[in-house]
Amino acid sequence: MKAGCKPAPQLYCPAPQPRQRRTFFFEPAVVNLNSSPIDKTHLKKPAHSLRPPPPWRGEIRSVLISRARLARRVHTLARQIEKDFAGRDLVIIALLNGTVMFLADLLRGVSLPLRLDFIGVSSYREGAGAGGLIFTKALRLGVRGRDVLLVDDILDTGRTLTRVLAKLRPLQPRRIKICVLLDKPARRVEKVAADYVGFTIPDEFVVGYGLDYGEKYRNLPFVGLLAPGIAQDVTP
Ligand code: XMP
Repeated sequence: MKAGCKPAPQLYCPAPQPRQRRTFFFEPAVVNLNSSPIDKTHLKKPAHSLRPPPPWRGEIRSVLISRARLARRVHTLARQIEKDFAGRDLVIIALLNGTVMFLADLLRGVSLPLRLDFIGVSSYREGAGAGGLIFTKALRLGVRGRDVLLVDDILDTGRTLTRVLAKLRPLQPRRIKICVLLDKPARRVEKVAADYVGFTIPDEFVVGYGLDYGEKYRNLPFVGLLAPGIAQDVTP
């Protein structure tokens, strides 16, 4: 330094701080969307924005999948299905009752001359625990030589879809593809996979957007988690 020059003033330089970890409701790695383009909006949602709307706060602990995310994803699924089944003789078979909202939104986005039918499946036990299956409504349309898209609300243990597939295969459709809104792979006991999945979810009992607990909560416009004390025999 030349004589007479002042040393440069020391600038305040704080020690580097460790980066704050943002609070997410669930780990991004757990909830993974099975499509491209990947919807990453859930990665940006802090926990407080996932509170259910006031009328549901007593019974619903939190919103797992918001109405907006459902709409975006269902729209994407519909476009994919429309592309994959263009020119085919398509029969959509939906399982009652859980598909009601998903199906209505999905169908509006599939502009193909398809046929629609339903199979009624119900668990013996009311509530959420595992039980035997009974068929409450049989298929009426013929599917022989046709493309079938089987639609269900959630693929959990896989028992329901395995039983339904066993009924459909002898009817000799050209092919059967499976579309589910939710996939919960952690509880799978049967070897069954879906071709179209809305959202892969963690091992939690979910309600809303058609899914029920004791026949309640189907009318929620979002998918949510039950508040503690509401569910008596929810598995897990
Ligand atoms: P499986 O275990 O046979 O399940 O793959 C399929 C059916 O079980 C019901 N299920 C649920 N319903 N929240 C619900 O409201 C859940 O988390 C859940 N897990 C399974 C549902 O009826 C589905 O079609």
